Amino acid sequence: MRIDILTIFPEMFDGPFSHSIIKRAIEKEKAEIHLHNIRDYTLDKHKKVDDYQFGGGAGMVMMAEPIILAIEKLQKERKYDEIIFLTPDGEVLNQGIANQLSMTGNLILLCGHYKGIDERIREHFITKEISVGDYVLSGGELAAAVLSDAIIRLIPGVLNDETSALSDSFQNNLLSAPVYTRPSEFRGWKVPEVLLSGNDKLIQEWRHEKALDRTKKRRPDLL
Ligand code: ADE
Repeated sequence: MRIDILTIFPEMFDGPFSHSIIKRAIEKEKAEIHLHNIRDYTLDKHKKVDDYQFGGGAGMVMMAEPIILAIEKLQKERKYDEIIFLTPDGEVLNQGIANQLSMTGNLILLCGHYKGIDERIREHFITKEISVGDYVLSGGELAAAVLSDAIIRLIPGVLNDETSALSDSFQNNLLSAPVYTRPSEFRGWKVPEVLLSGNDKLIQEWRHEKALDRTKKRRPDLL
């Protein structure tokens, strides 16, 4: 899978993509992430990428030209399955969307800033709009990092048995069961007996029951 990210702050991605599972996925060549600075595509001599909004009102708007030139350059090089704009008014990200996107080949993620992006980009180029939750971030970069992480870890071969996505919360619309590690007793607090029993069938039943309890209590909307 290849993800091309269009941003005015490419440095913001240095951290999220250079550790742990995403770093390993890139090293194993399961995923490629390419960062593109939108400022490199402006034809303006001052490298301007935003301007006042027509009709007045506070806040700058990201201009159509540099973003569209960047998208068109990439489209000339390969075909993209989706061109995704990260925005609080998009469809709220969930595990189902991450699963679907993990099965695609090439994605462009566009990070917005200020008051938004010129609507003509959305009308003519964007194929999907995604929000990472009902709150407003300072820009689309953190949302793009969240989306990339949620997608890349689902690509076959990225996770090993130990980190398997199958038992993740949400994977079957259930939250995960509680987990414990050694010691079996800490400050008098004991690990549930069944987990020490060695009886795999009983352990699986216990985990399912706990996952169901937790989902009913915390997220009944998932059931
Ligand atoms: N940009 C600003 N806020 C956002 C959000 N909640 N989701 C995606 N992109 C955003």
